[in-house]
Amino acid sequence: MVDELDGVRAHYRAAGLTERLKTVLAALGPEDRRLAPQQLGALDQFHTRGLAATVELAELAGIGADMSVLDIGAGVGGPARFLAATYGCQVTGIDLSEPFVEAARYLTGRTGQAGQVSFETGSALELPFDHGRFGVALLQHVAMNIADRARLYREIRRVLKPGGRFATFDVVLLSGEPHYPVPWARTPATSFLLSAAATRAAIEPAGFRALAWRDDTEAAKAWIVQLRASGPPPSPNLGAVMGPDFAQLAANLGRNLLEGRLGILTAVFEAV
Ligand SMILES: C[S@@+](CC[C@H](N)C(=O)[O-])C[C@H]1O[C@@H](n2cnc3c(N)ncnc32)[C@H](O)[C@@H]1O
Repeated sequence: MVDELDGVRAHYRAAGLTERLKTVLAALGPEDRRLAPQQLGALDQFHTRGLAATVELAELAGIGADMSVLDIGAGVGGPARFLAATYGCQVTGIDLSEPFVEAARYLTGRTGQAGQVSFETGSALELPFDHGRFGVALLQHVAMNIADRARLYREIRRVLKPGGRFATFDVVLLSGEPHYPVPWARTPATSFLLSAAATRAAIEPAGFRALAWRDDTEAAKAWIVQLRASGPPPSPNLGAVMGPDFAQLAANLGRNLLEGRLGILTAVFEAV
C-alpha cells in the first residue's frame, strides 16, 4: 500500500506549486487583494464539470450552515472554499499531497476564509479524526486513486455521525481499457477504477444506505464537447496546478468519456 500511495503522491507532486500559483494569480491583482472563491474556479475544482459539479453535489447532500464537513482528497481546496462561502459551514480538507495542502492553505488565505476552512496532510485510508466527528463527507474524483475501497469507505463511515451524509462524485469504468495518461494517473499503476455497480457494492457494506444515485456521464460528455469547442478558460486554470501535460491528460479523459470507456457517477449515502 505504501508503494501505491507513493505512486499517487508522485503523480500529484506539483513541485513549487504555491510559488507557481503566486505568479499566475498576479494577473488577478496584488498579493494583498482578497480574491472571491469563484475567481479561482478554473484552477481549484479538480474534477469533471468543475464548479457546476460541486454545486450539484452539495445540493444533493443537503449541506447546512451548522454542519461540519470533511472533504477527502481536497486537492487545492476549491470545493471546500465553495461550501464554506455558500453554506457558511466549517470545512476540513485532507489530502495526500503535501504541495496541494500547502497550496490549498495559501489560496484559502487569499480568499480570507482561513477561519472557516482548514487543510491537513494525510491519507483517506487512515483519517486522523475521531469517530463520528463530521456531519458530511465529500469525495470528488479521489476513489479512482485508491485500490482498497473497502477500507476507504469504512474510514469514511467511521468519521461520520450516524445519519451523516457521504457524497461521492467519481469516474467509473464502463467498458474496455481507458487511454492513459489521464488527470488522476499517468499510467494504469495508480488508477483503480471500478464500475458503478462495484462502487456501490463496496460502499454499502461499510454502513451506508443510498439516498441518491445518478449516472452523470451524459452531462460530462456535453461538457467535454463544449470544452473542445471553446478551449481552456483564459483565467488561471488547472494547467498551472498539474503542469504543461495537463492538456493531454484532460484530452484523454474526454476521449475515454466520448468513446464509452469511462462514465461519471454522482451518489449520496446516509450513514446507518
Ligand atoms: C483529481 S484530484 C481531486 C481534488 C478535489 N477533490 C477536487 O475535486 O477539486 C484527486 C485528489 O485526491 C488526492 N488523493 C488521492 N489519493 C488519496 C488518498 N489515499 N488520501 C488522500 N488524498 C488522496 C490527491 O492528492 C488529489 O489531490
